[in-house]
Amino acid sequence: QEETPLAGKKVVVTAGPTHEPLDPVRYLANRSSGRQGYAIADALADLGADVTLVSGPTELRAPAGVEVIPCETARDMQATVMGLPPQDVAVCTAAVADWRPASEANQKMKKKDRSDVPAPLSLVANPDILADLSMPSASRPRLVVGFAAETENVESYAIAKRARKGCDWIVANDVSPATNVMGGLENQILLITQDGVEYWPRMTKEEVARRLALSISDWFCSKSDF
Ligand code: C5P
Repeated sequence: QEETPLAGKKVVVTAGPTHEPLDPVRYLANRSSGRQGYAIADALADLGADVTLVSGPTELRAPAGVEVIPCETARDMQATVMGLPPQDVAVCTAAVADWRPASEANQKMKKKDRSDVPAPLSLVANPDILADLSMPSASRPRLVVGFAAETENVESYAIAKRARKGCDWIVANDVSPATNVMGGLENQILLITQDGVEYWPRMTKEEVARRLALSISDWFCSKSDF
């Protein structure tokens, strides 16, 4: 019991980038590796949680004991997450593309000659999975954790993001190129909760994951109806 404090808890973790197709061979994407999200799924499963990892395209192996549901686009990810049975916790680490091409060509776009360029790319907004999951409803996860990747004003942007998205906690990090967090092995985060802001030291993504999983299990322990 002590070793599996999250036994019986259902947790969904989103991870990785999304790919937003322009045509059958081209897509818009970002530099997310999925490592932090996979490590969090792994750490939560280690504490006994029943973890579903909804993952955009990555090169990572499924953590032991975690059900991975692969998906490609933000819309796939949204449909997958919202189609799951009610979850106790949601941790949205995915670097979901904010925008997708307004239209997707059915066939590969061809250039007519060497100087030919396509029409300017027009983009439309993707669904916001974290904001949707955070909306008050009977099936809302009791704890919704979002991520905030920023390159400046990390704390103030993250506090504002927590309010705007309606989630309970935000894990914020500085992803400026100099930090080597995006795609790297280490992370340095601040955890923003209803109680305030905790600055964590720089550590590996596995250590961040372990500590976050413990914070989540402590949160459940602090609830009288645990
Ligand atoms: O708005 P922004 O992309 O900065 O928010 C980041 C947080 O929101 C992350 O937790 C990310 O997983 C989530 N998100 C999402 N769906 C989107 C955009 C972001 O779930 N379309």
